[in-house]
Amino acid sequence: MTTVIPIESQNNALALQVGKDQRVGIIYFGTKLNNASEYQHAPGMYHRGDDYSGILNSAYTPAGSRNLVEPAIQVTHANGNTSLDLQYVSHQVQTTENNVSTTSIKLKDPKYALEVTLYYKVYRNEDVIEQWSVIKNNEKGNITLHKYASANLYLSADSYWLKHYHGDWAKEMQTEEVRLTSGIKVLDTKLGTRANLYQPPTFMVSLDKPATEDEGRILYGSVEWTGNFRVDLEVDPLNNLRVIAGINPFASDYSLAPKQEFTTPAFLYTYSEKGKGDASRKLHRWARNYRIMQGNGSRLTLLNNWEATFFDFNENKLAELIRDTKKLGVDMFLLDDGWFANKYPRNSDKAGLGDWQENVQKLPHGIGYLVKEAQNNDVKFGIWVEPEMVNPKSELYEKHPDWVIRQPGREEHLYRNQLVLDLSNPKVQDFVYGVLDNIMTKNPNVAFFKWDCNAVIYNAHSAYLKKQSHLYVEYVRGLYKVLERFRAKYPNLPMMLCSGGGGRVDYAALKYFTEFWLSDNTDPLERIFIQWEYSYFFPAISHDNHVTDWGKQPIKFRTDVAMMGKLGFDIVVSQLEPKDLKFCQDAVITYKGISDLVWHGDLFRLANPQENDYASLMYVNEAQNRAVMFNYQTSSRYGSGTLSPIKLKGLHPDKKYTVKEINLYPDTKSTITGTTAYSGNYLMTIGFNPNLNTKRTSVILEINEQK
Ligand code: DGJ
Repeated sequence: MTTVIPIESQNNALALQVGKDQRVGIIYFGTKLNNASEYQHAPGMYHRGDDYSGILNSAYTPAGSRNLVEPAIQVTHANGNTSLDLQYVSHQVQTTENNVSTTSIKLKDPKYALEVTLYYKVYRNEDVIEQWSVIKNNEKGNITLHKYASANLYLSADSYWLKHYHGDWAKEMQTEEVRLTSGIKVLDTKLGTRANLYQPPTFMVSLDKPATEDEGRILYGSVEWTGNFRVDLEVDPLNNLRVIAGINPFASDYSLAPKQEFTTPAFLYTYSEKGKGDASRKLHRWARNYRIMQGNGSRLTLLNNWEATFFDFNENKLAELIRDTKKLGVDMFLLDDGWFANKYPRNSDKAGLGDWQENVQKLPHGIGYLVKEAQNNDVKFGIWVEPEMVNPKSELYEKHPDWVIRQPGREEHLYRNQLVLDLSNPKVQDFVYGVLDNIMTKNPNVAFFKWDCNAVIYNAHSAYLKKQSHLYVEYVRGLYKVLERFRAKYPNLPMMLCSGGGGRVDYAALKYFTEFWLSDNTDPLERIFIQWEYSYFFPAISHDNHVTDWGKQPIKFRTDVAMMGKLGFDIVVSQLEPKDLKFCQDAVITYKGISDLVWHGDLFRLANPQENDYASLMYVNEAQNRAVMFNYQTSSRYGSGTLSPIKLKGLHPDKKYTVKEINLYPDTKSTITGTTAYSGNYLMTIGFNPNLNTKRTSVILEINEQK
């Protein structure tokens, strides 16, 4: 007798089978069947040749026994033996709430007292699964984990197409799509802190052929870990795709004492047979409902001073900017880097980081004065911190050299003149927590934090840890401890996840943050592409977009692009031409009117800028009676523009809608006035032309049901 364990969501199924030999394998991944008893027949339909190990489809591939391919787990037992076999013990399903259930499957080595439990948490309506494992050492001595993946998937298709990302500062989310060939493609990072700088832990795989926006079989995956991750995508000798994802085992052998458990982070995935759009809408819904802090809430529009002043400011200048915040009409003033440190004042990025006392030259009356100024102007006050890092030129470094990650006896190597503090050390955790807690204790009306993180880990060595190979893991655990503690005391304070631009964003960190900074590259043309690629994985409510002076485009174009997420400004308001200022003020009001659609609506991508001379996308509310469509010209070639209508999506075919251009520059008129009503059927079949061309480069359309 074999047992089948179907793990099903609204549309999908992952079917596991306990074989006669008690080993658990994956026998199906895809659209759910009407009758779960039929999953068992699926493997018989594939004639792909012999699996010489019998465990090629393992649900969690152990190394050192019969396995011949990339393992999910590799250990050395207490007696030095390196073999591992895992056999089924039991399984259970627990329903925590209506929409969420978790299947757990306990496995055990028949010869060694080592236990692994696989967890599959299913969010039914969103077709999302979070998968992780718990490894327990019941042996008499320490065991060493060399590899300890979160998840191991096994997919069967004719071909596999991987869309993945790479990047650098100001070049986040550069994408490529490649056909996976036999062997292993590895996505990983070894940077330790700002893991995404070179490569984010998010990717998608199309099955059989590259999926399009509305068609095709597609898996989205992401490792929920704010540190070194690794994803192995192995096309095995039988042309199946094995996906093994989790913490990067690089330099991270982990020692487990008797009775100790290791809980891996989760690997998150969703699957759709209706293309990339459907998959991302499902992921967005999951993120808003279950993950991002206040995912269904609202966000604060803001004026940030980073690009407006850099480090060159004082109390008076900031008071002026606070008045400008009010003038602009946004909700909050956000004070950026440069407000702290006295012995080594933070007047550039070369000194002062770590010394979190107000700089007495710049802020003689402290943060409290600025918070008051903000209150007097009826706006909120937010503040920048970068608590995990230190400049060697700082009092913190002088007092606590042992708190810094660095190799004894080796030359220090700096990233943006910084080193990383050793968050595996509880004292450092207290310090990092204290940076935020002290600000809040002294200034309870601070309304927002921007948490930055600029340095990567070089010379990985902790003066605190006994086992150096635990550092990368314990750093991230330390970070989570700090964030947990912060959230226990300040559960609702909005906070931006920032990392020298977008060097750090993942779905574990977003438990603690309301939003993230996508990139320091705010050139709106570049930004269209960056925001577009992030939008596959993260909903617009989490995207922080600021209007800056990057790029040559007019203020309208820059603002229209920033309005696709949470709108902010980082410009010198007092230097704006009167008409530009009026436009920005009006835009803030317009944004307030459409932000519920951007933040909570479903995203439909209409025209991909990688394939067209323009980009177009829209957000539709759940009732399908309101929508907003953003359109941008991305080519300046002669004659380029929307020569044909763009088909809308997500509307109700039988409803009638008016289409009106909004966010117009002062004294300009549009021919799109909202006087004609079109059926949803018309707008989705024939489409609508926003009339983009090289002289009319950005157009926002408001779509309202006509009753
Ligand atoms: C990097 C961030 O991405 C910027 O927005 C700014 O906060 C600087 N750090 C400040 O040093």
